[in-house]
Amino acid sequence: MKKVNKIVSLTLATVMATLVLQSCGAEGNHPGYEFMPNMYRSAYYDTYTENPIFENGITSQLPVQGTIPRGFVPFEYENTLEDYLKAGRALKNPIALNDKVLDEGKQLYQMFCQHCHGADGDGKGSISHPVYGGIPSYTDEVAPRRTGSSMSELKSGHIFHALTYGLNAMGPHASQLSKEERWKIVHYVHELQKGSN
Ligand code: HEC
Repeated sequence: MKKVNKIVSLTLATVMATLVLQSCGAEGNHPGYEFMPNMYRSAYYDTYTENPIFENGITSQLPVQGTIPRGFVPFEYENTLEDYLKAGRALKNPIALNDKVLDEGKQLYQMFCQHCHGADGDGKGSISHPVYGGIPSYTDEVAPRRTGSSMSELKSGHIFHALTYGLNAMGPHASQLSKEERWKIVHYVHELQKGSN
């Protein structure tokens, strides 16, 4: 019995050695067979390359017309002077004013506005870049704004519109601050307009 076992294992060893020698042997660089090539080389499209799935051959598509991104709340006023003035006339702050709201508005102001507009809203924030040199004070009663009147007379709707779309060197804040947060800040800006700080 032992002898038979020995013969079997010897034969097996020879067969295997032959296979190994053959596979890396004489014929050169034969890489072996791929039984399921799709598993090694899946069909995919590289980023930014053309692909035949969409009619126009590009990989990314514009959103379907009339749809909005998840979580995005549309603002019914456009980024035009006309709509800015309209917003100033029509919009009322939907958030009732109380101490808690005012305090939240203040905290948001400190995070998002103070470095440019200053703690008191006098336009003297910590940013010293020349682009932000002429930041108007909220208490300003002279220099006319887009409204034709002064900073101290800006209405809630004007401020909300300016926060949403930005104005020249001031960027839009619609993506950083929710509608509620912007309205809370508007309450605090009214406080600063009074110059009571
Ligand atoms: C990067 C600096 C910067 C930041 C941040 C910034 N502002 Fe301004 N802001 C400006 C500048 C500059 C102007 C003047 C723009 C102009 O008149 O061309 C301005 C103008 C304004 C006006 C007047 C808009 C109008 O309609 O005349 C308001 C109100 C205002 N900012 C409020 C805010 C509030 C509130 C925040 C925080 C959410 C904020 N800003 C953040 C730089 C900034």
